[in-house]
Formats: sequence, C-alpha cells, structure tokens
Amino acid sequence: MKLLSSEYATYRNSVQEYIKDEILSAPATILDPMAGTAPLIPFIEKNGHNAYLYDVLPIHFFVNSAKKIDAYNTYKKNGTEWFYEELKKCLSSVKNQSSIISDDWYDKDTLKGLCKAWQTTEKYEQIEKALLKALLLVSLRNYSSFEKSKNRTWVKAGGISSYKSLDDIVDDTIQRFEKYYKESYENNEPTVEGSCVIDIKNAITAKTPKLVDLIVTSPPYPNRLDYHRLYGPENFFLSNVGFPVKPSNLIGTNTVRAYDSFIHGKKYLFSKSPYLSNLITTIEQKKEKDVMYYSKYYTRYFDTLFRTFENIIQSLSKNGKLYVVVQDNMHRGEIIEIDTALSDLLKCYGFQTKIVFDEKRHHLGLRNVSKKHFVIRKKHPEKIMVAFK
Ligand SMILES: C[S@@+](CC[C@H](N)C(=O)[O-])C[C@H]1O[C@@H](n2cnc3c(N)ncnc32)[C@H](O)[C@@H]1O
Repeated sequence: MKLLSSEYATYRNSVQEYIKDEILSAPATILDPMAGTAPLIPFIEKNGHNAYLYDVLPIHFFVNSAKKIDAYNTYKKNGTEWFYEELKKCLSSVKNQSSIISDDWYDKDTLKGLCKAWQTTEKYEQIEKALLKALLLVSLRNYSSFEKSKNRTWVKAGGISSYKSLDDIVDDTIQRFEKYYKESYENNEPTVEGSCVIDIKNAITAKTPKLVDLIVTSPPYPNRLDYHRLYGPENFFLSNVGFPVKPSNLIGTNTVRAYDSFIHGKKYLFSKSPYLSNLITTIEQKKEKDVMYYSKYYTRYFDTLFRTFENIIQSLSKNGKLYVVVQDNMHRGEIIEIDTALSDLLKCYGFQTKIVFDEKRHHLGLRNVSKKHFVIRKKHPEKIMVAFK
C-alpha cells in the first residue's frame, strides 16, 4: 500500500515475499541503510525481528514513523475522527485553499501556512505528533504548484496547485492511512513483538549501534530516477522546516557537476572491479560526443555506491549475510549489471556471492523516459544477490 503518490521503485510483492519467506524466518537483527518506503515494517514488528531502517531522505523518516505498530495503536485509540479534526486544525493556517499559480514549489503564503501547520503539530504528544507530521507530509502535494516533466518520475517547480478543498485533502490523506493500517495490521495479529529504529542517515557513513545478522537493501540504480526530484515538493518543504537534503549525498542523482573525484574515482573503481573497468572503457569508446559526461556520471554513481557498501558491510556480524536487490540498467544498448559490479567489490573483502532470485520486469513501467533509446523498453532482470563469508 503506497502512502505517497511518488513511491516508485519500492520492493515489489514477489521480492517482499522472497525476503519474508527465505530471509526472515528466524528472529534476526536487520539493517536496511537505504530503506526508502520500508514496506517490511509491519512484518518486522509482528514477527519479533529488530531492524534499523535508515534513509538519507527525511520524508522517509517521517512517513515510515507513522507505519510503525505504535502509530497504528495510537491511531486506533484516538480514532479516525480525532485525526481528521486535528489535521484540519493544523492545516487551517494555510489560508488559500483554492488553487494557486506560482513559479516555485509553493506560493509564498501557502508555504508560510504549511510551515505554521508543521509548528502546530509540535504541541501534541510524541506519537500523535509523529502521525500528524506524516499526515501533513502526505497532504503536501495538494498545496504544491508543481508540474510533471517528460521523465514521469521527475517533477518541476512551478505550476498550478490542486483545486481540492481542505475537507477533501484531509479526507483523502486519512483514507490512505486507513487503508494502509487495514492491510498491514487488521486481522493480522502480531505473534512476537519486534522493533524498528527509523532514522535519517547517510549510508556512506551510517553505523548501527550493534552488529546485525542481515543487511537487506536495494540501492538506487544509475538510471534517471533521481530521488531529489522525485520528492521535490516534499524535499523543498522539509528543507524549510529544518530538514535539508543535499543532492550530493544521494547515490542516484543527476547532479554530477559537483563530483570532483573523477580521476581518483575511476582509478579506485578499476582497482576493485574488472567488470567496471571494462564497462566504463566501453562507454568512453562510444561514438557520441557526450561520452565523457557519461563516463563521469557512471564513475560518480559506482564510486559512491562502492564507498557506501564498504561502509555498510562493517555493520555485519561475522556470520552475517547481505542481501541486495538490484535491477540491470541500460546505457545506450549496454547492459549495466549492478550486481556484477558489487560482487567484484564484495569479493575484495572476502565475500562469496550468489544470485538467489531472478525475475524479469519493467523497472519504470512501459513508458520510456528516453525517446532515443527504445531498447530500455525491454524487461530487465531484477535480482536478489546474497553475499556471505
Ligand atoms: C531503490 S530505493 C529503496 C527502495 C526500498 N527498498 C523500498 O522498498 O521502498 C533507494 C533508496 O536509497 C535512498 N538513498 C539514496 N542515497 C542514499 C544515501 N546516501 N544514504 C541513504 N539512503 C540513500 C533513496 O532515498 C531511496 O529511498
């Protein structure tokens, strides 16, 4: 169940089922350092597992906090009506409820009202506050003047905000949560209580307080799914209430300009991965005039990805296992196998690797973001790779 309309690239059902059946059968301590929408929260909490679920984007911290069992219990205790009324009170500071044209993510007064609504949530008790903040964030897009772009996962600032009334906005948001809770918790009694620690952390430096049995994660891919743009309205709002996002901290980003370790990064990658040495050389030998941009683009991506994995494996216990969900990407007819690159890296640290799940799928559906390169339309294998010593 998706709470945010911008939830792309979440674990799909068959991947979740695999993880649940094969991986989480015995109580375990789990880390997902790039947890995104963290669809496994109810499963983890109901089956006695303990997990650290981190993501660099604050939106995931706030929305995932409302997916926890304690949030559900508070929601049930206070009742739908209570949240309906309180969310309406908080959002009443947004004066203009009809649609607004602006050339920014929000027009100035709307943003002021939304920031005030955020402040108003502060007066509530801890879990109610967390829930109201999540509800507010899920309502945000209705107030944002954004436009869609050619890449359907990117949104741009500037446009007309929704025509929805406060009642409709609140109703829609509350219904999303109701549906989520129903699917996740109702008629679905917990067996053993577990816990999820949710936090905003950069996976390139994050450490868990203790070593974990399992790392289960899906890193951003090098295709054009840019999390900074994907959550543009949410990221912009959150930066105004004290939770800024630095695009340079993201693994998958199109902001390549700021990357200043190209030579060093390439040398590092070539020393760790024969596969990448071949791939980046092939990309540079193509006939197009922008080949050096792409060489920098992929070098930056894999440089950041490799450093991230070098860090996260330090949180794994001696007999621990690392499960990585990845999908092949495509660059101008060249298949990019993220698992092969990661396997090269992990072997440098004494791991063996094995593909344990392989299914073909369209990553972003059937529409192609690149009109020139139709080949992306092909289904690509989505895989789970396990690494162990
Ligand atoms: C493929 S998504 C994970 C999807 C997730 N498994 C789900 O089911 O929603 C990759 C995630 O990595 C996050 N991310 C990107 N760079 C990061 C970084 N440096 N540290 C932590 N998380 C990062 C993104 O915000 C995104 O949520």
